[in-house]
Amino acid sequence: MKKIIVAGNWKMNKTYLEAKQFIAQMNQKSSFGTEVILGVPALYSDTLYANNQKENVHIALQNCSDQSEGAFTGEISARMIASLAVKYCIVGHSERRTIYGETDDLVNAKVKQLLDSNVRPIFCLGETLSERELDQTFSIVERQLTLGLQDLSNEDVSNIVIAYEPVWAIGTGITASKEQAEEVHAFTANYLKEKYGSPLASTIPILYGGSCNEKNALELFSQPNIWGGLIGGASLQFEVFENIIDIAEKLNNGR
Ligand code: 13P
Repeated sequence: MKKIIVAGNWKMNKTYLEAKQFIAQMNQKSSFGTEVILGVPALYSDTLYANNQKENVHIALQNCSDQSEGAFTGEISARMIASLAVKYCIVGHSERRTIYGETDDLVNAKVKQLLDSNVRPIFCLGETLSERELDQTFSIVERQLTLGLQDLSNEDVSNIVIAYEPVWAIGTGITASKEQAEEVHAFTANYLKEKYGSPLASTIPILYGGSCNEKNALELFSQPNIWGGLIGGASLQFEVFENIIDIAEKLNNGR
């Protein structure tokens, strides 16, 4: 049985004070059982982790190095992340792939670094608009899965969270329709099933990201293969993000 997960990706937003205020508001929220993950600026992660009082709210990083340690100025290793007791890290986000030129092989190296340190990768993939228009969505997603997850053991794969984020829907206000999203989620779930077997595949969450908000969360999260959202813009304002958590909470409680 899938449980809906609500993940936020703050990207390069919020001052230190604003970030602390958000966690303070989250601490005030009446209790809920839905798993919430917040991808925060690395600089604040330790404070936010310490300030967080909700057991099911997890602090995540948004990126990590593909190297384990050493002379890599400005980089943050998976081991450093793990040493803060941070359990999740976003990897392979399309902004990193397109703006910073991250390749599938580099993303794969980062995934391995994270898994070696027991940090769960939130592994992002998705096609661009031109790839969709050329009818390449499935082949792109398949390539990203194959190369991004290459040489991983079944145990490794069981610790991954996948996020399907069509690039054309990120930050554009254009959300994939529930049919468009479900189709790629079902394809991904099937890929995982064929490669790793049904019992394992059925435990891997596949989140949707791309202009997900309080208006479309219900219909998206209600799709059979959509396990929740990786939310950018709509995760920045607490009240909006809270509404999305409440939608997930109702679905998780069968209401
Ligand atoms: P938006 O929700 O702002 O479209 O961003 C999605 C995203 O990139 C989450 O990682």
